[in-house]
Amino acid sequence: MIKRQLGAGICRPALVVALLIMLTGCLEQSRTTVDDQGARVSGFDWGLPDHIPLPREPEDNPMTEEKFQLGRHLFYDTRLSSNGTISCSSCHHQDKAFSDGLAQASGATGERHPRNSQALVNVAWNNSLTWGNPSLGTIEKQIMIPLFGDDPIEHGLNEGNHEQVLRNLQAEPVYASLFAEAFPEQSDPLAGDLAWDNIVKALGSFVRGLVSFDSDFDRGTMSEQALRGERLFNSERLECFHCHAGYNFTDATTDRLTTFNTVLFHNTGLYNIDGLGAYPSPNTGRHEVTGNPGHMGQFRAPGLRNVALTAPYNHDGSVDTLEDVIRNYAAGGRLRVSPPYPGDGRMNPYKDGFIVSFSITESEIQDLVAFLESLTDQAFIANPRFSNPWTDNSNKDLTP
Ligand code: HEC
Ligand code: HEC
Repeated sequence: MIKRQLGAGICRPALVVALLIMLTGCLEQSRTTVDDQGARVSGFDWGLPDHIPLPREPEDNPMTEEKFQLGRHLFYDTRLSSNGTISCSSCHHQDKAFSDGLAQASGATGERHPRNSQALVNVAWNNSLTWGNPSLGTIEKQIMIPLFGDDPIEHGLNEGNHEQVLRNLQAEPVYASLFAEAFPEQSDPLAGDLAWDNIVKALGSFVRGLVSFDSDFDRGTMSEQALRGERLFNSERLECFHCHAGYNFTDATTDRLTTFNTVLFHNTGLYNIDGLGAYPSPNTGRHEVTGNPGHMGQFRAPGLRNVALTAPYNHDGSVDTLEDVIRNYAAGGRLRVSPPYPGDGRMNPYKDGFIVSFSITESEIQDLVAFLESLTDQAFIANPRFSNPWTDNSNKDLTP
């Protein structure tokens, strides 16, 4: 069994153990080099603006264009699931900044995921993965969960079916050349357990390469209203910037200039079931993994780039609009009278100290929403590099 809280000491099938060892051990020759100043340079064209520091690349999975392109094909391939019905892109749509517009999506067997599908935007800079898991430090480890997890079932791969799934991929002629180009040092990169290690590394490379820094905010083309909203966002009255900090608007950011890495989580007072400060199970956030009551309801502050495209909001998709997200903050937590889970989140004893009520007018709410909308990157959601390569009748043409 492999659950969402992978790494929390649960048993896993042999294949998954073998993969995890491969993912953390066995160093490949890294194309990432260190210059005289100790700053690291990448063999991959990240295409970043000058002021954005490079993200870290795992020693055993340095970025290459070839792995990125293989990962892109796998990301959009439903053959990578137990019954051919689900791909990563089923829950991560490019036009929605790789979220899916649903409160909660279902996997290959129809089982509902308890959490909202996350946007995949600048994931390379996140120092923890998913809504609230402190044990997932790399994208590669995270990807094991949708592929092999059985609680809930997403792609539904397991000991019994992974060999057949691999045979289906081997039967696709395009993959022979894509795998060979991505892993030139291997004689048969599409065979056996090594193929699964390669699949995870390629998917990790594609997700890591989903980069968005071309919004009105970045271009300096924000409206007057958005500029007013930005001042509110950065004000001590609203406190947004404390947790949604830095160039990705999250304090969970790490890059190659980061010397001290702190993995942070916060309880924003969405729930207070029965007055005990509990969040509805299994969505108890960091507490789900650590079991520590003080971690109840703590989640990672999500990055806010492209957030206007990713409704509904919060870890369980229980908030419909950006306006309502802001109203919950203004109240110092959510008071919900109707099911499911009515209760007064404002009274949650584990609430983060920054979540205090503030007064805000309707027009200020609209200003703040205009600011969040100015973080939308139209080039990102239209970028052909990130799009489905299987629909263009030219699978072998990989030119971006
Ligand atoms: C059934 C829907 C579904 C499928 C299929 C799916 N995901 Fe996700 N994805 C989610 C949900 C839900 C989360 C949040 C999980 C959580 O918090 O526990 C998530 C989170 C992530 C994250 C973490 C992002 C972050 O900022 O921390 C990454 C990376 C990711 N998915 C990549 C993938 C890849 C790659 C695939 C294909 C192998 C995939 N997903 C398949 C629903 C899905
Ligand atoms: C104490 C830290 C903290 C502060 C202060 C804070 N946030 Fe958040 N924010 C979070 C966390 C954590 C979540 C996810 C909570 C959850 O889903 O349970 C979140 C979620 C959000 C979301 C939903 C994003 C998504 O992808 O679903 C938006 C939008 C948002 N915050 C905007 C703001 C704004 C605007 C402010 C200021 C009024 C603000 N935040 C203040 C930590 C914070």
